[in-house]
Amino acid sequence: MDTLTLTNKKQTPEDRQQQLDLGTSGIVPRHIAVIMDGNGRWAKSRGNIRLFGHKAGVDSVRDITEACAQLGVEYLTLYAFSTENWGRPMDEVSGLMQLLVQSLRSETKKLNDNDIRLLTIGQIERFPESCQRELKEAIRITSDNKRLNLCLALSYSGRWDITQAVKKLAHQVKEGRLEPDDINDELITSELVTAKIPDPDLIIRTSGEFRISNFLLWQLAYSELYVTDTYWPDFRRKELYEAIGSYQKRERRFGKTSDQIVAK
Ligand code: IPE
Ligand code: IPE
Ligand code: MG
Repeated sequence: MDTLTLTNKKQTPEDRQQQLDLGTSGIVPRHIAVIMDGNGRWAKSRGNIRLFGHKAGVDSVRDITEACAQLGVEYLTLYAFSTENWGRPMDEVSGLMQLLVQSLRSETKKLNDNDIRLLTIGQIERFPESCQRELKEAIRITSDNKRLNLCLALSYSGRWDITQAVKKLAHQVKEGRLEPDDINDELITSELVTAKIPDPDLIIRTSGEFRISNFLLWQLAYSELYVTDTYWPDFRRKELYEAIGSYQKRERRFGKTSDQIVAK
């Protein structure tokens, strides 16, 4: 039995067994990234307002985070708010900000007790002061934790990330510290906000949309993609195990031939 206490639910022996089975049936992804989509439609299908769906989505975040920590996943990146999401109606945006603050207040201690480190990628300086304060505090409190890195993508977009990296490199060229011909794959990677985070092995998108919506554009070059029709508030560990099971059946060739991969 695992002793994690994020969900306040005791882990069942069946769940533990399923996790152990996943650990032996193949490689558990080191980095899972999730496009948490479908909160609004989930709420609408229940005759409720969109914010109700976002609130329900927090329960899924808790369950998936706990399951990932138990499985030994090292990085879980959750796409919580995109650059383009700023264009939503103001009441929805401010509702999401409030929900973030509330969740940080109620969850930070639990994250810390469970050895989970919180980090963010994105333009959090665009967030209200109160949000930024809570985020910075949660990041500080959990900074030495080792079990799982929980990375929230907030006011994030892949194009923004690449643009800010290119700007930094352009400045280095201008100041004479970098030759344009020395710009390569590694250098660009090192200027992205994910510089210290490995590329995602598995990207999950809920709610059935087959698109990336400006998520980790550079980093997903060789990620395995998994799309499920399930809306995010219904996506729980059972669905996560299915996604990991699908991942384990794939052959990641990275441009090589199947024979080369098998021979390794
Ligand atoms: C994902 O759910 C959450 C955010 C983008 C903040 P949506 O709010 O996009 O829900 P749908 O896609 O409209 O159903
Ligand atoms: C993607 O969902 C962004 C997040 C999950 C935060 P959206 O609902 O914003 O994406 P589109 O508009 O359907 O592509
Ligand atoms: Mg959506």
